[in-house]
Amino acid sequence: MGKIKILEPEVAQKIAAGEVIERPFSVVKELVENSLDAGATEIRVELVDGGKKLIKVVDNGSGLSQEDVFLCFERHATSKISRAEDLERIATLGFRGEALASIDAVSRLVLKTSEGTGGIKVEREGGRLLRFSEGAYPRGTSIEVRDLFFNLPVRRKFLRSAQSELALIARYLTLVALAFPEISFSLSHGGRQLVNCPGVKTRKERFYQLFGRQALERMLEPDLKEGDYQITGFLSRPPRGSPDKQRQVYYVNCRPVRDRTLAAAVQQATKGWYEKDSYPEIYLFLTLPCSEVDVNVHPAKAEVRFRDSLRVFQLAVTSIDEALKRESRAKAVYFEQKFFELKDVKTMEIKEEGLKRRLLFPEERGMIDFEKKTPLSPQEKEIGDRSRLTTEEGRKEEARDTSWKVLGQYLNFYIIVSDKEGLLIIDQHNAHERVLYEKYLALDRQRGFIRRQSLFPLILELSPAEMVRFEENKALLEEFGFELENLGGRSLLLRSFPDFLEDEEARQIFLAFLGEAESVPSPELRPRFLATMACKTAVKAGVALTPEKMEYLVSELFECEHPWLCPHGRPTALRLSLEDIEKGLKRS
Ligand SMILES: Nc1ncnc2c1ncn2[C@@H]1O[C@H](COP(=O)(O)OP(=O)(O)OP(=O)(O)O)[C@@H](O)[C@H]1O
Ligand SMILES: [Mg+2]
Repeated sequence: MGKIKILEPEVAQKIAAGEVIERPFSVVKELVENSLDAGATEIRVELVDGGKKLIKVVDNGSGLSQEDVFLCFERHATSKISRAEDLERIATLGFRGEALASIDAVSRLVLKTSEGTGGIKVEREGGRLLRFSEGAYPRGTSIEVRDLFFNLPVRRKFLRSAQSELALIARYLTLVALAFPEISFSLSHGGRQLVNCPGVKTRKERFYQLFGRQALERMLEPDLKEGDYQITGFLSRPPRGSPDKQRQVYYVNCRPVRDRTLAAAVQQATKGWYEKDSYPEIYLFLTLPCSEVDVNVHPAKAEVRFRDSLRVFQLAVTSIDEALKRESRAKAVYFEQKFFELKDVKTMEIKEEGLKRRLLFPEERGMIDFEKKTPLSPQEKEIGDRSRLTTEEGRKEEARDTSWKVLGQYLNFYIIVSDKEGLLIIDQHNAHERVLYEKYLALDRQRGFIRRQSLFPLILELSPAEMVRFEENKALLEEFGFELENLGGRSLLLRSFPDFLEDEEARQIFLAFLGEAESVPSPELRPRFLATMACKTAVKAGVALTPEKMEYLVSELFECEHPWLCPHGRPTALRLSLEDIEKGLKRS
């Protein structure tokens, strides 16, 4: 039975009209939205040449009846609304009946569909039917769109590079996947799989699948319900943010949108919490009744309008505010909390090993390789005051007592260690910076930076000056594993970087490096780069550490060639000798 109807002209006129299909990305977006509206639990996207040659979207949704297959390519043909009033409470992602007509007009298209028994295949070109046949297909719909704009050569010529389309599509798919955790998504390009996330129960698990454990651990989770309005989501823990707003994403009833009200709420609620010139990373989901939001305001459905935007604003501000305040109270125990049960996630199937696995499950870098901790021999525990070893007497004394002990952490900034000489107050960040710096130096000497690719396409917009410095230092960056592709103009796609970095760290390190390249003379750029990388990846001041982690960090520090200075020349530790203590307390 057919479900699709052609909208009456009065209704059609009320729909925000405009360009629906501009580029491969818009085709993917429309087709994926249709699959979601059709109730699919599995959506597969395949691309060739960034979608310019082929876009294929396969779903296991409701399928189309024979009658509907002929109607769906008409303008204003939709099963989702029928009367003008329906526009006031749209519960589906599509509603205009425009998308398939627009795609069909500018491509060669093959649609295969089945409602469960039998099936239909139609082949079309530039809006005309070429062939129609019956066949047996699994329930669901598969649409292949080839040669986009083949009949509009000028449009085709001005399409952007395959890589930049791919980046946009991968980003979009990542964002929708986050909105619909229970649905399986996959994306492949030229046969290579880029995204593969089987359905999971919670959004938190989906976040883990997409961005990895460390990213998840960095997130606070605003969650506030007020009547039939609700805000949930993920907000990066202050004070560290991203250098731009690319990772501020808003969803209204699971639809990713640009929205000024939510953006303003985030800005207001996070004021003073994040480092200067940095922005919180946020994925904010607003759920509210369909009648409270107008989605018919933008031709690409990328914006919405709220009936009560003040209420939305206040709810968003309060939810973020509460999450931040909870954080400041819970900070001291944060590292110890076992807040995520990984067992569920481990059951997710990942078909291929290697690169893909890394993409989806960035292995825990283990900031200080905590996991690899091995018991230390007494010799290894020897403290780094090696000057004392120069005299025979000193050596004997050293041999007698080489032990040290972590007493605890002070203010989540300092590790207090006792040894035979007295107390050491170690700055955890500076110390870890030193440890990592020496590790990175060693890697650099062996040219050992293993690179990995980013799942979340990182597109960077540079200033003209930064662009020049990038061009000048391209070779050096590549030696460090940073591979960037010029997308035209001053946009770069960060394709790969050292495998122990998270996406966001890689971006920050790259941008910080371009900043330093201006003032640092070129022979010093190399060590400076390693120092920046150490700084950005070292454990932060203010983070609570377990005794095991502190012990590991201290033992690693004592193994360093220059344990007492961080790579930027600040001290890593302060010594309070037993002599000083006794003198101060008038014991001696
Ligand atoms: N993957 C699919 N599975 C089942 N039905 C589909 C699928 N794709 C499209 N349809 C049907 O075809 C109709 C037309 O799709 P189209 O995308 O052109 O319009 P729409 O989704 O209703 O509105 P919009 O233009 O806002 O996307 C839909 O209303 C739906 O009934
Ligand atoms: Mg649609």
